[in-house]
Amino acid sequence: MRKLGIPQLLAWTAILLTSFCLIRLLIQQRRPGSAWGAPYLADAFTEKPPGLIVRGLVFYGRRDRAEILQCYLERNLVDQGGWLDEVIWVLNTTVDSDITYLQQLLASEPRYRLQEVRSDGLGIGFHHAYDGLAPSSLYIKIDDDVVWIGEDTISRLVLAKLNHPEHLIVSANTIDSPLMSKIHLDRGAHRPYLPAVFQNTTDITTTWDYTEYPRWDGPSDYRLTWMDWVDPSVPWLPAADIASTPIVDVEYDPWGNALTDWKLGCQAHLSLLQNIRDDTLSAYYHDAEEFHYTDGKRLSINFIAFLSDDILPHLPFEDDDDELWLTVSLPAKLSKQVVVENRALAAHFSFSYQHHLEKTDALARYKQYAKLHGCEL
Ligand SMILES: *[C@@H]1O[C@H](CO)[C@@H](O)[C@H](O)[C@H]1NC(C)=O
Ligand SMILES: *[C@@H]1O[C@H](CO)[C@@H](O)[C@H](O)[C@H]1NC(C)=O
Repeated sequence: MRKLGIPQLLAWTAILLTSFCLIRLLIQQRRPGSAWGAPYLADAFTEKPPGLIVRGLVFYGRRDRAEILQCYLERNLVDQGGWLDEVIWVLNTTVDSDITYLQQLLASEPRYRLQEVRSDGLGIGFHHAYDGLAPSSLYIKIDDDVVWIGEDTISRLVLAKLNHPEHLIVSANTIDSPLMSKIHLDRGAHRPYLPAVFQNTTDITTTWDYTEYPRWDGPSDYRLTWMDWVDPSVPWLPAADIASTPIVDVEYDPWGNALTDWKLGCQAHLSLLQNIRDDTLSAYYHDAEEFHYTDGKRLSINFIAFLSDDILPHLPFEDDDDELWLTVSLPAKLSKQVVVENRALAAHFSFSYQHHLEKTDALARYKQYAKLHGCEL
């Protein structure tokens, strides 16, 4: 056999190296954004990418909210066929009874972990909750007052984040959200509801199922706007015409009326329960693209997915406001987007500005729904 000369050897080596690199490139392109090497399809929701660790991060304060959430989280643990490998409960309360409840939870579920955040003189230092992020992990941050989660919400968020590493944050499409409530109006997802101010409500009992309530009755020219005062303890009933209900004036504004007004929250929640009952949840995303882009607007971070490696190099926060930092400052600095996965649905119960929402029966309706669907509450 003829011996190869030095120039030929070099040429062959170059050809081999180039082919090797090209093949590697081709293989990588077939696995878009997958740091874990698992191929996946955008709509393959049944299988979690092997080797991927998904951690829930819950900012916990109130038992009466968190007990509903904990039931949904339990179902989303990997042992139950869900995608959460563990849930980290970040303690944000000094109320003894709420702390006792959390201790019970932690004792009952080995996949639950506690993280205490140290105070740093600026109130409770929530940015420290992010200091403890494990590298190369996918996190789902969830507020303790998330009171309903769609069956495929967590898997959709995970896959959207993995498939789109170019987006910094992927948020759930949350019900009662300052930005999304207006989008839900435009998509026709909200339903007509009015408080029963003209009816005798003595015999009304709380149920999640709107068909068991009497129809709203009152003057045909009655119209309630979000600015009108109404007693929050009066139950809301299904009405005929959405044009006479508060939600038609909901704003697309992070500081707008969807953040501050409890009536808009109440109507959004009862609409969701009706959509669940009628199997019309697609109203929240039909005809929409995969994502709603927030384009630099502040978004509530009640239910979001992110990769720890996107966040860790940029800590600490400039201030105590993690929402501003995660959805406005950091995306601007990195030229990345914050997106809402339109089909990943969840309900966030209330903002502190909407405190009257607690006097309505909306939370009791969610609780009853959860109980009927296997939650021990
Ligand atoms: C912590 O609890 C306080 C008081 O309930 C609440 O206002 C605040 O939003 C909570 N913080 C987080 C990050 O959940
Ligand atoms: C409302 O209904 C209850 C029970 O049907 C009745 O006892 C009560 O008198 C009614 N109240 C008014 C103001 O009509």
